[in-house]
Amino acid sequence: MTKQEEIERLKQEKDAVILAHYYTLPEVQAVADYVGDSYYLSEMAVNLPQKTIVFCGVSFMGESAKLLNPGKTVLMPDASADCPMAHMVTKEAVDAAREKYPDLVVVCYINSTAEVKSWSDVCVTSANAVQIVKKLPDRHILFIPDKNLARYVASQVPEKEFVFHDGYCPVHEEMSAKEIQDLKGQHPAAEVLVHPECNEKVLALADYTGSTSGIIAYAKQSAAKEFIIGTETGVSFALEQAREDAAFYFPQTEPVCQNMKKITLDGVMDVLKNGKNEVRPMGEHLSETAGESLRKMLVLAGKK
Ligand code: 13P
Ligand code: SF4
Repeated sequence: MTKQEEIERLKQEKDAVILAHYYTLPEVQAVADYVGDSYYLSEMAVNLPQKTIVFCGVSFMGESAKLLNPGKTVLMPDASADCPMAHMVTKEAVDAAREKYPDLVVVCYINSTAEVKSWSDVCVTSANAVQIVKKLPDRHILFIPDKNLARYVASQVPEKEFVFHDGYCPVHEEMSAKEIQDLKGQHPAAEVLVHPECNEKVLALADYTGSTSGIIAYAKQSAAKEFIIGTETGVSFALEQAREDAAFYFPQTEPVCQNMKKITLDGVMDVLKNGKNEVRPMGEHLSETAGESLRKMLVLAGKK
């Protein structure tokens, strides 16, 4: 029996479903029942009939699935796969901003721990941040933890006053604008599609800025045949399926999220077999407050 067949068999036996983010390895995406960006995956997680979710992604993703589905078993194929940005904010920073601006709303990128979510008023992902921030009645927005996504959202919602934080994704922050420009020099007809977690200089070169699923959807409908991609290389699996006729170029210093690459087929098989690495229920207060920020996101993103 191949690993893929064994995973299929175990899924039936354990009444499990596999969710995977676009940054995971191609073979992991291939065995998943649903592959998507952070918003799609958190929305999916609340609509699944299976009692066990195997979450192929980093810890904030599994934690969010558990917060939205306290009654389900959520298993992580690698318990050490974590997003460094999720930890880049302190309670003191949030409290200080709340004290300074009485009308402040705290908007928290889903790439954050449950604790960070519990200090916040509403969660967002890169797919819905602009739409949600526009709907908030408050004038002052503290956007945590990502400074790059915050700057991008602020540019799209000029009517709000942003208080920035200094978190970032190391993979996107370190992307080189010079390497993107070099690629543009080699492929002048290529369109540049980037993730809003990229630094300011990279964003300035973009023809399109959006979440991983936004980038894939853009490439799908574009008349261009070549694309320069400013996000993690895992998206190439879906991009190549969406546009078999097109070429995709990544910066020479490849943007690779080592944490996402920790998820392997062996890890998926192992947790399915042994029920290992379960996301533990969080305390009542944490569960309620962090869950509320996520549920608010689903409500605000759902209504156009
Ligand atoms: P998306 O929500 O666009 O998939 O992004 C998740 C992420 O971790 C980006 O680094
Ligand atoms: Fe976190 Fe960056 Fe990896 Fe996304 S790519 S999970 S933001 S480290």
